Amino acid sequence: MTEVPERNLGLELARITESAAIAGARWQGRGDKIAADQAAVDAMRIILSTIDIDGTIAIGEGEKDEAPMLYNGEKVGTGFGPKVDVAVDPIDGTSLTAAGRPGALAVIALAEAGTMYSPGSLVYMDKIAVGPEAAGWIDIEAPVAHNLRQVAKARDKDIDDLTAIILDRPRNQPFIDAVRKAGARIRLISDGDVSGAIATAEPDSGIDILFGIGGSPEAVIAAAALTAMGGEIQCKLWPRDESEHQYAADNGHDLDKILTLKDLVSGKNIFFAATGVTDGELLQGVDFFGHGATTHSVVMRSKTGSIRFMHARHNLDRLDRLKGTLDE
Ligand code: FBP
Repeated sequence: MTEVPERNLGLELARITESAAIAGARWQGRGDKIAADQAAVDAMRIILSTIDIDGTIAIGEGEKDEAPMLYNGEKVGTGFGPKVDVAVDPIDGTSLTAAGRPGALAVIALAEAGTMYSPGSLVYMDKIAVGPEAAGWIDIEAPVAHNLRQVAKARDKDIDDLTAIILDRPRNQPFIDAVRKAGARIRLISDGDVSGAIATAEPDSGIDILFGIGGSPEAVIAAAALTAMGGEIQCKLWPRDESEHQYAADNGHDLDKILTLKDLVSGKNIFFAATGVTDGELLQGVDFFGHGATTHSVVMRSKTGSIRFMHARHNLDRLDRLKGTLDE
């Protein structure tokens, strides 16, 4: 039995990603991605503890022994309120943040308990994602050129007008070659494929489709956002070596299965929030002034399909005082 969270928790989630983004953005360009991530994790955890949910981290910072906080299975929230699964990525783009490059986001998603897919220790998935117009037209098992033709048809464009977004990794070279051969354009990103997946569903992003192998946790989080946006993502687990093949076999993960939106997050009431850490195309990053900061966030809810963009100004002196009382 799952319990449906009825109130719009998305707005509360924005407080969580705002605080993570502000803390992480302090480390922008300082060359220390671990410190940036830790700051965002700490900040996210404090605000998460104030939210009236009976939450369990379904997608977190990893296993308990390696991640001191926000580990998979950790209970979060006040314990009062709906039972929910929570997926967090305090910074998607820790390297981007450390280098001061654009596109890092603090993200969180939430859905009814037991409705989020757990990839276990399988860290990568092959992914294909599109926005609402091309939803229902793609097939992860078909050749890249076929998917581009389908998206071109769905969006009433020529293939050479399409832009595919791809994580720039050697393992994704076959996708890059196939897109080039088909005549479409490419935007390579060095990190941040949650934002890349969302871009396929954002009307003015100029991105039509995402291809390539990226993080499994990021796939679940992207699925939460794309469900609210009416887009589509399909994924397949992508084991790196023989030991991951064995792990999949031992733990009942079917490597041939196409994981659809519903497989990744099956909830009927899914919430997603993101705040820009560094400036990006989806969201501006955190800007600091005097004793405060400004943030830009987006909040989505699958049930209503509402997508809210929020610009907030924070008085950090007052927030620090509040944080002090929470820590006590
Ligand atoms: P982190 O910021 O958590 O390191 O993730 C960034 C990211 O680029 C994700 O967006 C992407 O899914 C994943 O890393 C790809 O993994 P890898 O860098 O190992 O190829």
